[in-house]
Amino acid sequence: MTVPAETNPLVPVIIDTDTAQDDCIAILIGLLDPRADLLAITMVAGNVGFEQQVANAQLTLNVAGRLGRVPVHAGCRRPMLRDWVSATDVHGDGSGGLSMESTAAVVADEHGVDALLRITAERPGEVSIVAIGPLTNIATAAVLDRDFAARVKSLYVMGGSNNGRGNITASAEYNFYVDPEAAQIVLDAGFPDLHVITWDPLTLRDVTIPRADFDRLGDIGTPLARFFHTMCAATIDYDESVGIDGSTHPDSLTIAALLHPELVLAEGGYRVDVETASDLTRGYSAMAWGKFGLVPNATVVEAVDAAAFIALLEDVLHTVTEPTVPIAGL
Ligand code: BDR
Ligand code: CA
Repeated sequence: MTVPAETNPLVPVIIDTDTAQDDCIAILIGLLDPRADLLAITMVAGNVGFEQQVANAQLTLNVAGRLGRVPVHAGCRRPMLRDWVSATDVHGDGSGGLSMESTAAVVADEHGVDALLRITAERPGEVSIVAIGPLTNIATAAVLDRDFAARVKSLYVMGGSNNGRGNITASAEYNFYVDPEAAQIVLDAGFPDLHVITWDPLTLRDVTIPRADFDRLGDIGTPLARFFHTMCAATIDYDESVGIDGSTHPDSLTIAALLHPELVLAEGGYRVDVETASDLTRGYSAMAWGKFGLVPNATVVEAVDAAAFIALLEDVLHTVTEPTVPIAGL
Protein backbone atom coordinates (compact mmCIF):
# COMPACT_ATOMS: atom_id res chain seq x y z
CA MET A 1 0.00 0.00 0.00
CA THR A 2 2.71 2.47 -1.00
CA VAL A 3 1.53 5.95 -2.00
CA PRO A 4 3.83 8.88 -2.90
CA ALA A 5 4.66 10.93 0.21
CA GLU A 6 3.19 14.20 -1.11
CA THR A 7 -0.26 12.60 -1.51
CA ASN A 8 0.07 10.64 1.68
CA PRO A 9 0.54 12.98 4.65
CA LEU A 10 0.87 11.66 8.17
CA VAL A 11 -2.35 11.35 10.14
CA PRO A 12 -1.96 12.70 13.70
CA VAL A 13 -4.07 10.44 15.90
CA ILE A 14 -4.94 9.64 19.50
CA ILE A 15 -6.15 6.13 20.34
CA ASP A 16 -8.76 5.93 23.11
CA THR A 17 -8.83 2.31 24.20
CA ASP A 18 -9.80 -0.42 26.67
CA THR A 19 -6.68 -2.31 25.81
CA ALA A 20 -7.07 -6.04 25.29
CA GLN A 21 -6.22 -8.20 22.27
CA ASP A 22 -7.53 -6.36 19.20
CA ASP A 23 -7.08 -2.97 20.88
CA CYS A 24 -3.38 -3.91 21.14
CA ILE A 25 -3.28 -4.79 17.45
CA ALA A 26 -4.90 -1.42 16.68
CA ILE A 27 -2.12 0.25 18.69
CA LEU A 28 0.48 -1.69 16.68
CA ILE A 29 -1.05 -0.30 13.48
CA GLY A 30 -1.00 3.18 15.05
CA LEU A 31 2.68 2.74 15.87
CA LEU A 32 3.91 1.10 12.69
CA ASP A 33 1.69 2.02 9.76
CA PRO A 34 3.64 4.54 7.65
CA ARG A 35 0.67 6.94 7.57
CA ALA A 36 0.17 7.10 11.34
CA ASP A 37 1.54 9.70 13.75
CA LEU A 38 0.38 8.31 17.10
CA LEU A 39 0.39 11.20 19.57
CA ALA A 40 -1.04 9.56 22.69
CA ILE A 41 -2.98 6.62 24.08
CA THR A 42 -5.85 7.35 26.45
CA MET A 43 -7.30 4.58 28.57
CA VAL A 44 -10.98 4.04 29.35
CA ALA A 45 -12.73 1.48 31.54
CA GLY A 46 -13.81 -1.50 29.46
CA ASN A 47 -12.66 -4.97 28.55
CA VAL A 48 -10.50 -5.98 31.52
CA GLY A 49 -9.32 -4.44 34.81
CA PHE A 50 -8.06 -0.88 34.40
CA GLU A 51 -4.49 -1.52 35.57
CA GLN A 52 -4.29 -4.61 33.37
CA GLN A 53 -5.39 -2.51 30.38
CA VAL A 54 -2.64 0.00 31.13
CA ALA A 55 -0.16 -2.88 31.35
CA ASN A 56 -1.41 -4.27 28.03
CA ALA A 57 -0.91 -0.90 26.34
CA GLN A 58 2.63 -0.64 27.71
CA LEU A 59 3.34 -4.21 26.65
CA THR A 60 2.26 -3.30 23.12
CA LEU A 61 4.50 -0.23 23.03
CA ASN A 62 7.28 -2.44 24.32
CA VAL A 63 6.98 -5.16 21.68
CA ALA A 64 7.14 -2.46 19.02
CA GLY A 65 10.30 -1.07 20.63
CA ARG A 66 8.46 2.15 21.49
CA LEU A 67 8.06 1.93 25.26
CA GLY A 68 8.20 5.44 26.76
CA ARG A 69 7.95 7.06 23.32
CA VAL A 70 4.15 7.45 23.22
CA PRO A 71 2.42 8.70 26.38
CA VAL A 72 -0.21 6.51 28.02
CA HIS A 73 -2.85 8.52 29.93
CA ALA A 74 -5.25 6.93 32.38
CA GLY A 75 -8.76 8.24 31.75
CA CYS A 76 -12.18 7.48 33.21
CA ARG A 77 -12.18 4.40 35.43
CA ARG A 78 -15.89 3.70 35.19
CA PRO A 79 -18.83 4.52 32.90
CA MET A 80 -20.73 7.80 33.38
CA LEU A 81 -23.79 6.37 35.15
CA ARG A 82 -23.53 2.60 35.12
CA ASP A 83 -21.47 0.03 36.93
CA TRP A 84 -18.50 -1.20 34.93
CA VAL A 85 -19.13 -4.44 33.01
CA SER A 86 -16.00 -6.38 32.07
CA ALA A 87 -15.44 -8.72 29.12
CA THR A 88 -12.90 -10.96 30.83
CA ASP A 89 -14.94 -14.00 29.76
CA VAL A 90 -13.93 -13.11 26.19
CA HIS A 91 -10.48 -11.63 26.75
CA GLY A 92 -8.98 -13.23 29.86
CA ASP A 93 -6.36 -10.70 30.96
CA GLY A 94 -6.30 -9.27 27.41
CA SER A 95 -2.65 -10.11 26.87
CA GLY A 96 -2.73 -13.84 26.22
CA GLY A 97 -0.63 -14.28 29.36
CA LEU A 98 2.26 -12.10 28.15
CA SER A 99 3.94 -9.76 30.62
CA MET A 100 6.99 -7.61 31.20
CA GLU A 101 8.69 -5.88 34.09
CA SER A 102 6.10 -3.26 35.02
CA THR A 103 8.74 -0.91 36.45
CA ALA A 104 9.81 -0.19 32.88
CA ALA A 105 6.49 1.53 32.10
CA VAL A 106 5.49 5.04 33.12
CA VAL A 107 1.93 6.36 33.06
CA ALA A 108 1.52 10.07 32.27
CA ASP A 109 0.46 12.34 35.13
CA GLU A 110 -2.17 14.05 33.00
CA HIS A 111 -5.68 12.53 32.99
CA GLY A 112 -6.75 11.03 29.67
CA VAL A 113 -9.62 13.47 29.23
CA ASP A 114 -7.31 16.43 29.90
CA ALA A 115 -4.90 15.03 27.32
CA LEU A 116 -7.70 14.80 24.74
CA LEU A 117 -8.70 18.40 25.44
CA ARG A 118 -5.14 19.74 25.44
CA ILE A 119 -3.85 17.99 22.34
CA THR A 120 -6.88 18.97 20.26
CA ALA A 121 -6.61 22.57 21.54
CA GLU A 122 -2.95 22.72 20.54
CA ARG A 123 -3.77 21.56 17.01
CA PRO A 124 -7.41 22.44 16.29
CA GLY A 125 -8.81 20.68 13.22
CA GLU A 126 -5.70 18.53 12.77
CA VAL A 127 -5.94 15.62 15.18
CA SER A 128 -8.14 12.54 14.69
CA ILE A 129 -9.33 10.20 17.44
CA VAL A 130 -9.82 6.45 17.15
CA ALA A 131 -12.19 5.42 19.96
CA ILE A 132 -12.18 1.66 20.37
CA GLY A 133 -13.62 1.22 23.85
CA PRO A 134 -16.67 2.54 25.66
CA LEU A 135 -17.07 6.24 24.89
CA THR A 136 -16.74 7.59 28.46
CA ASN A 137 -13.58 9.64 27.87
CA ILE A 138 -14.80 11.14 24.60
CA ALA A 139 -18.19 12.04 26.07
CA THR A 140 -16.61 13.54 29.17
CA ALA A 141 -14.34 15.69 27.02
CA ALA A 142 -17.35 16.84 24.98
CA VAL A 143 -19.26 17.71 28.15
CA LEU A 144 -16.32 19.54 29.74
CA ASP A 145 -15.57 21.63 26.67
CA ARG A 146 -18.28 22.45 24.15
CA ASP A 147 -15.66 23.27 21.53
CA PHE A 148 -13.94 19.90 21.80
CA ALA A 149 -15.96 18.11 19.12
CA ALA A 150 -15.42 20.87 16.58
CA ARG A 151 -11.66 20.68 17.11
CA VAL A 152 -11.41 16.97 16.27
CA LYS A 153 -10.60 16.38 12.62
CA SER A 154 -12.19 12.93 12.40
CA LEU A 155 -13.59 10.65 15.08
CA TYR A 156 -13.60 6.94 14.24
CA VAL A 157 -15.69 4.91 16.68
CA MET A 158 -15.88 1.14 17.04
CA GLY A 159 -19.33 0.50 18.39
CA GLY A 160 -22.81 -0.80 17.80
CA SER A 161 -24.30 -2.94 15.08
CA ASN A 162 -26.04 -1.72 11.97
CA ASN A 163 -29.50 -2.81 13.09
CA GLY A 164 -27.97 -6.22 13.68
CA ARG A 165 -26.85 -8.63 16.36
CA GLY A 166 -25.09 -7.71 19.53
CA ASN A 167 -22.28 -9.56 21.24
CA ILE A 168 -22.78 -8.90 24.94
CA THR A 169 -26.56 -9.18 24.65
CA ALA A 170 -28.70 -10.18 21.72
CA SER A 171 -29.25 -6.52 20.90
CA ALA A 172 -26.12 -4.69 22.03
CA GLU A 173 -22.49 -4.52 21.05
CA TYR A 174 -20.11 -4.29 24.07
CA ASN A 175 -18.70 -0.73 23.73
CA PHE A 176 -22.14 0.87 23.40
CA TYR A 177 -23.62 -1.44 26.06
CA VAL A 178 -21.05 -0.56 28.73
CA ASP A 179 -21.65 3.19 28.53
CA PRO A 180 -24.76 3.88 26.45
CA GLU A 181 -25.19 7.40 27.83
CA ALA A 182 -21.65 8.27 26.76
CA ALA A 183 -22.30 6.84 23.30
CA GLN A 184 -25.43 8.97 22.91
CA ILE A 185 -23.63 12.10 24.12
CA VAL A 186 -20.91 11.53 21.53
CA LEU A 187 -23.45 10.97 18.76
CA ASP A 188 -25.17 14.24 19.70
CA ALA A 189 -21.97 16.26 20.23
CA GLY A 190 -21.58 17.55 16.68
CA PHE A 191 -18.31 15.90 15.67
CA PRO A 192 -17.80 17.17 12.12
CA ASP A 193 -16.58 13.84 10.72
CA LEU A 194 -17.81 10.89 12.78
CA HIS A 195 -17.40 7.35 11.40
CA VAL A 196 -18.83 4.23 12.99
CA ILE A 197 -17.32 0.76 12.52
CA THR A 198 -19.87 -1.83 13.59
CA TRP A 199 -19.83 -5.35 14.96
CA ASP A 200 -22.63 -6.76 12.81
CA PRO A 201 -22.49 -7.09 9.89
CA LEU A 202 -19.14 -5.39 9.23
CA THR A 203 -16.77 -7.09 11.67
CA LEU A 204 -18.40 -10.49 11.47
CA ARG A 205 -18.43 -10.51 7.67
CA ASP A 206 -15.31 -8.56 6.61
CA VAL A 207 -12.66 -8.62 9.38
CA THR A 208 -13.02 -12.00 11.02
CA ILE A 209 -9.78 -13.79 10.16
CA PRO A 210 -10.25 -17.54 9.59
CA ARG A 211 -8.08 -19.92 11.68
CA ALA A 212 -5.82 -20.88 8.74
CA ASP A 213 -4.99 -17.22 7.99
CA PHE A 214 -4.64 -16.48 11.69
CA ASP A 215 -2.06 -19.25 12.03
CA ARG A 216 -0.26 -18.16 8.88
CA LEU A 217 0.09 -14.63 10.27
CA GLY A 218 1.42 -16.07 13.51
CA ASP A 219 4.13 -17.95 11.59
CA ILE A 220 5.65 -14.84 9.95
CA GLY A 221 8.62 -15.15 12.27
CA THR A 222 8.84 -11.72 13.89
CA PRO A 223 8.28 -10.85 17.57
CA LEU A 224 5.19 -8.92 16.45
CA ALA A 225 3.72 -11.97 14.72
CA ARG A 226 4.29 -14.12 17.82
CA PHE A 227 2.77 -11.34 19.93
CA PHE A 228 -0.30 -11.19 17.66
CA HIS A 229 -0.81 -14.95 17.70
CA THR A 230 -0.18 -15.48 21.41
CA MET A 231 -2.33 -12.54 22.38
CA CYS A 232 -5.30 -13.34 20.16
CA ALA A 233 -5.27 -17.11 20.81
CA ALA A 234 -7.71 -16.72 23.70
CA THR A 235 -10.16 -14.60 21.76
CA ILE A 236 -10.18 -16.80 18.65
CA ASP A 237 -10.92 -19.78 20.89
CA TYR A 238 -13.76 -17.82 22.48
CA ASP A 239 -15.07 -16.65 19.10
CA GLU A 240 -15.11 -20.15 17.71
CA SER A 241 -16.87 -21.43 20.84
CA VAL A 242 -19.76 -19.05 20.12
CA GLY A 243 -19.96 -19.87 16.42
CA ILE A 244 -17.80 -17.10 14.95
CA ASP A 245 -15.47 -18.52 12.33
CA GLY A 246 -12.19 -16.77 13.20
CA SER A 247 -10.39 -13.97 15.02
CA THR A 248 -12.38 -10.72 15.15
CA HIS A 249 -10.63 -7.39 14.47
CA PRO A 250 -13.05 -4.46 14.77
CA ASP A 251 -10.60 -2.18 16.60
CA SER A 252 -7.76 -2.68 14.14
CA LEU A 253 -10.19 -2.06 11.28
CA THR A 254 -11.23 1.21 12.93
CA ILE A 255 -7.74 2.70 12.83
CA ALA A 256 -7.02 1.10 9.46
CA ALA A 257 -10.11 2.79 7.98
CA LEU A 258 -8.93 6.18 9.24
CA LEU A 259 -5.41 5.73 7.88
CA HIS A 260 -6.45 4.06 4.62
CA PRO A 261 -9.91 5.25 3.60
CA GLU A 262 -9.49 3.31 0.37
CA LEU A 263 -10.22 0.18 2.42
CA VAL A 264 -13.83 1.31 2.73
CA LEU A 265 -15.95 -0.05 -0.12
CA ALA A 266 -19.35 1.17 1.06
CA GLU A 267 -20.60 3.62 3.65
CA GLY A 268 -23.66 5.75 4.28
CA GLY A 269 -24.93 8.71 6.25
CA TYR A 270 -27.12 7.49 9.12
CA ARG A 271 -28.90 8.97 12.12
CA VAL A 272 -27.50 6.79 14.90
CA ASP A 273 -29.02 6.66 18.39
CA VAL A 274 -28.29 4.37 21.30
CA GLU A 275 -30.87 2.89 23.65
CA THR A 276 -30.45 4.21 27.20
CA ALA A 277 -33.90 3.65 28.74
CA SER A 278 -34.67 -0.03 28.28
CA ASP A 279 -32.94 -2.77 30.27
CA LEU A 280 -33.80 -5.32 27.61
CA THR A 281 -32.17 -3.44 24.73
CA ARG A 282 -29.66 -1.27 26.63
CA GLY A 283 -26.92 -0.11 24.23
CA TYR A 284 -28.82 -1.09 21.07
CA SER A 285 -27.85 1.16 18.17
CA ALA A 286 -30.73 2.28 15.97
CA MET A 287 -29.22 3.32 12.64
CA ALA A 288 -31.70 5.18 10.47
CA TRP A 289 -30.80 5.26 6.78
CA GLY A 290 -31.95 7.79 4.19
CA LYS A 291 -35.52 6.56 3.84
CA PHE A 292 -36.50 8.08 7.18
CA GLY A 293 -35.54 11.63 6.27
CA LEU A 294 -33.51 12.25 9.44
CA VAL A 295 -30.39 14.40 9.46
CA PRO A 296 -27.39 12.03 9.61
CA ASN A 297 -25.05 12.35 12.58
CA ALA A 298 -22.56 9.70 11.46
CA THR A 299 -21.07 7.90 8.51
CA VAL A 300 -21.54 4.19 9.06
CA VAL A 301 -19.05 1.95 7.30
CA GLU A 302 -20.96 -0.79 5.50
CA ALA A 303 -18.28 -2.84 3.72
CA VAL A 304 -14.50 -2.96 3.58
CA ASP A 305 -11.89 -4.69 1.43
CA ALA A 306 -11.17 -7.70 3.62
CA ALA A 307 -8.14 -8.89 1.63
CA ALA A 308 -6.56 -5.43 1.73
CA PHE A 309 -7.15 -5.25 5.48
CA ILE A 310 -5.39 -8.58 6.05
CA ALA A 311 -2.55 -7.45 3.76
CA LEU A 312 -2.17 -4.27 5.82
CA LEU A 313 -2.08 -6.27 9.04
CA GLU A 314 0.44 -8.65 7.50
CA ASP A 315 2.70 -5.72 6.54
CA VAL A 316 2.63 -4.49 10.13
CA LEU A 317 3.42 -7.95 11.51
CA HIS A 318 6.38 -8.27 9.15
CA THR A 319 8.01 -5.24 10.78
CA VAL A 320 11.12 -6.35 12.62
CA THR A 321 11.16 -4.78 16.06
CA GLU A 322 13.18 -5.28 19.19
CA PRO A 323 11.19 -5.17 22.43
CA THR A 324 12.51 -2.43 24.71
CA VAL A 325 12.54 -4.83 27.68
CA PRO A 326 12.12 -8.64 27.61
CA ILE A 327 8.57 -10.03 27.41
CA ALA A 328 7.86 -13.17 29.40
CA GLY A 329 6.03 -15.77 27.32
CA LEU A 330 7.00 -14.41 23.88
C1 BDR B 1 -15.57 -4.32 21.08
O1 BDR B 1 -15.57 -4.75 22.43
C2 BDR B 1 -14.28 -5.12 22.82
O2 BDR B 1 -14.32 -6.34 23.46
C3 BDR B 1 -13.41 -5.10 21.61
O3 BDR B 1 -12.14 -4.61 21.95
C4 BDR B 1 -14.11 -4.15 20.68
O4 BDR B 1 -13.73 -2.81 20.90
C5 BDR B 1 -16.33 -5.29 20.24
O5 BDR B 1 -17.64 -5.36 20.68
CA1 CA C 1 -11.85 -2.28 22.38
